Amino acid sequence: MVIRDARFLTSNTKVELCPAPTMPEYAFIGRSNVGKSSLINKLVGRTGLAKTSASPGKTQLINHFLINENWYLVDLPGYGYARVSKTSRTEWSRMINYYLRHRENLACVCVLIDSRHPPQAVDLEFMEKLGEEGVPFVMVFTKIDKQSAAQTRELIASYLQKMGESWDELPRHFLTSAESGAGRDELLNFIGEVNQE
Ligand code: GTP
Ligand code: MG
Repeated sequence: MVIRDARFLTSNTKVELCPAPTMPEYAFIGRSNVGKSSLINKLVGRTGLAKTSASPGKTQLINHFLINENWYLVDLPGYGYARVSKTSRTEWSRMINYYLRHRENLACVCVLIDSRHPPQAVDLEFMEKLGEEGVPFVMVFTKIDKQSAAQTRELIASYLQKMGESWDELPRHFLTSAESGAGRDELLNFIGEVNQE
């Protein structure tokens, strides 16, 4: 898919205030600092469109971007940041769970996972929950530029094996880097395919 146009629309905490659910929507979610905002920028080829930061917890709201005037990309706040208070964590859960359940145009959730780490409970549980709720999702492994291809292959293989313990059919997965642009075309083509459905 060619990106002709990408622009920021709104930031908010309430699904009711999000842009009209008239176009398919793809939400990026995952642990704080996993690279959600960076990958969004790389996908659309616009540095600085989604705000990024070296310290976790940068994205706090539901951020909508309109792409090619016919689909939405959504940058969500990260989960699993240890230094966040219990109250903030509860607020996060409430906002995100409500969003995931009620956003009627949600075409697919992209669950971002750092390709350098072994499977983490917080990610596995989050995906379990998506499965239980019937929310379509794919796994997007990030930051593959930070290690060798062999290391990535090994970690992803063990990750998928772990997933295989609880899933009959493994969700689709992508290997990406916001640095090198690896996986960009594959992810955009996937979105293009889903948009056609
Ligand atoms: P929160 O909004 O805080 O949840 O974080 P986020 O998931 O949006 O992460 P963000 O895109 O802000 O990136 C976090 C840090 O990781 C930044 O310092 C980025 O430059 C870096 N980063 C993100 N993606 C990549 C990548 O693919 N490769 C490398 N080398 N660094 C990356
Ligand atoms: Mg972010």
